[in-house]
Amino acid sequence: MIDRVTVERIIDAAEITEVVSDFVNLKRRGINYLGLCPFHNEKTPSFTVSPSKGIFKCFGCGKGGTAVNFIMEHESLTYPEALKYLARKYHIDVVEKEETPEEKQQKDDRESMMIVSGFAQRFFTRYLWEEPEGRQVGLSYFRERGFRDDIVKKFELGFCPSGKSIFTEAAQKEGYLMEFLEKTGLAIRREEWVRDRFAGRVMFPIHNIAGRVIGFGGRILKAEADSAKYLNSPESEIYHKSRIVYGIFQAKREIARADKCFLVEGYTDVLSFHQSGIENVVASSGTALTSDQIRLIRRFTSNITILYDGDEAGIKASLRGIDLVLEEGMNVKVLLFPPGEDPDSFARKHSSSELLQHIAGNETDFIRFKTALLLRDAGNDPMARARLITDVIRSVAVIPDSIARSVYIKECSKLLGVEETILYSEVRKILRAKTGNPAFSPSLETPARTPRQVIFPQEKPGELDTEELELLRFLLKYCKIPLFEQEEDDGNLPGIISVGNFIISQLTESEIVSKKPVFQTIFREIAERLDDPDFNPGKYFLFHPDKIVSQTASSLLAEKWVESKRWKKAGAFTEKESDALDWLVPRIVNEYKLRKIKEMHLRLEEEIGSLQTTGDENRLFDLLAKIHNLKKLEKFLSDKLGNRTIN
Ligand code: CTP
Ligand code: MN
Repeated sequence: MIDRVTVERIIDAAEITEVVSDFVNLKRRGINYLGLCPFHNEKTPSFTVSPSKGIFKCFGCGKGGTAVNFIMEHESLTYPEALKYLARKYHIDVVEKEETPEEKQQKDDRESMMIVSGFAQRFFTRYLWEEPEGRQVGLSYFRERGFRDDIVKKFELGFCPSGKSIFTEAAQKEGYLMEFLEKTGLAIRREEWVRDRFAGRVMFPIHNIAGRVIGFGGRILKAEADSAKYLNSPESEIYHKSRIVYGIFQAKREIARADKCFLVEGYTDVLSFHQSGIENVVASSGTALTSDQIRLIRRFTSNITILYDGDEAGIKASLRGIDLVLEEGMNVKVLLFPPGEDPDSFARKHSSSELLQHIAGNETDFIRFKTALLLRDAGNDPMARARLITDVIRSVAVIPDSIARSVYIKECSKLLGVEETILYSEVRKILRAKTGNPAFSPSLETPARTPRQVIFPQEKPGELDTEELELLRFLLKYCKIPLFEQEEDDGNLPGIISVGNFIISQLTESEIVSKKPVFQTIFREIAERLDDPDFNPGKYFLFHPDKIVSQTASSLLAEKWVESKRWKKAGAFTEKESDALDWLVPRIVNEYKLRKIKEMHLRLEEEIGSLQTTGDENRLFDLLAKIHNLKKLEKFLSDKLGNRTIN
């Protein structure tokens, strides 16, 4: 199909960071780039791009490969399709013969549906600009609403002819199959008739993150009591309403640049904002916001501002949105418009500088928003105020990061005039109810018990967390492999540090060896045998008398688990784990340390909460000092790992 010379030109031109940056917000980390993996759900970045090697890899899900692999995976394209995508991006001409109807049919369903959707968009747009009905009805509608032509063009708006099936017939004449016209919902077919779903409506194409059309919203022009104002494409293999936000393609660059995303409700809100020069905006399209939508935004920023109508419905929607955004570990602000106004109507009535001023002047952090709202309703009623505190605290409790939580608790404490320790204990109650975590078990929290028992709940054996498992796996698998050379102080011959030496000394020095029995056994027995030349950790632990230990070792050493989890899914990707140990091992040690430190931090917070009942002030100051140090360590390790931290 594509000749070899062209293929090579495309591959040479496709600069990996440029290609990936269209979909992932990358931050520079040394010689590499780091971002949130688009292939699995994560909150801390483990997706790495190496410009020098021309490859990407994710240490979370294991996907990796070249720029072509990335496009294949991300856009669900075949190899030649991915090459064509890159050719378009780099303006490289690909000479190809026309496709025959058979070839058109052979493409898989998804691709066919996207192709027919793309055709539909071009058809509707052309109709809007070039046909008398399109101009007189559709284009004049947009113009009368005040939308500029450049905005209409930027969003590829269109018009679907008002005849019964003008579009469907035109599409079939061009060789597009009824099957895909139906699957995309563009055509509706019954036994005896076929008609266009969107006949007579102005069309808002919905683009995926790569800019391909996956669905439409069609707005009716007159208020007709018996038909919906907006008609949307049905759910299909390419269009899932709950997983896409309208405008993400047109907004993503500006979202990443501004490190912030405005979230509005409707298509026209997005358009109006762009017209006012605000381009980092997307719409949830009238549905209740979903976590998938939030995660899509999170690829580009961790700051969301929700902009809704200030009526009761809008306020309710904002409150729901707040908790969802917080749950995804993002920062959220709220901005309400005067009741009855949406961002679009407001933007139409005001100049763009007034709009900007309104945004700057009314954006409120979620704690202030919630407290102000609730204080208004609670007045001076003490019971209502108590409920209010619980309500605000409920939002704080959904924040996954304990450091972020403590920042918000401080803020809350100031705003509500309630002591931090009380707020901590409220948060704990909610977490306990939600997770059933024994650390929050009510029986351990009765005042009769000493704080110690609250702080160190007995850990169940065998329940190792991810970081512990990873660390053990590296110990078992690569214990004796030289990691790097370390020069002796007195200029003696450099000593070789093995993976085992490194891990054992790192953990022993910082006194954070896990208390879990399986971990302790393996760790201790390796430490004791490090200098034994005949020691083979794999074999040793596989045949260990303690059944739990041997089971743990065998699952860790199972090649399937090991290679597939981190690397194998990569397909064309060639670098082996064992070739990257110098980089991987210190990283895993740091991940483990961070995890342990966070656990310690959490326990101290727990104790602070429980101090309320004993009122031991010395202990309180002691704990606060310890927490202060842990936070510094957490920040240090987070930075080292390239994690996002809150500011
Ligand atoms: N919506 C929908 N179906 C409807 C009504 C609304 O899908 N029957 C979605 C659309 O995505 C719409 C959003 O909900 O953009 C917000 O609805 P609304 O505020 O009623 O519409 P506006 O965007 O304000 O549209 P317009 O200004 O044209 O009335
Ligand atoms: Mn509106």
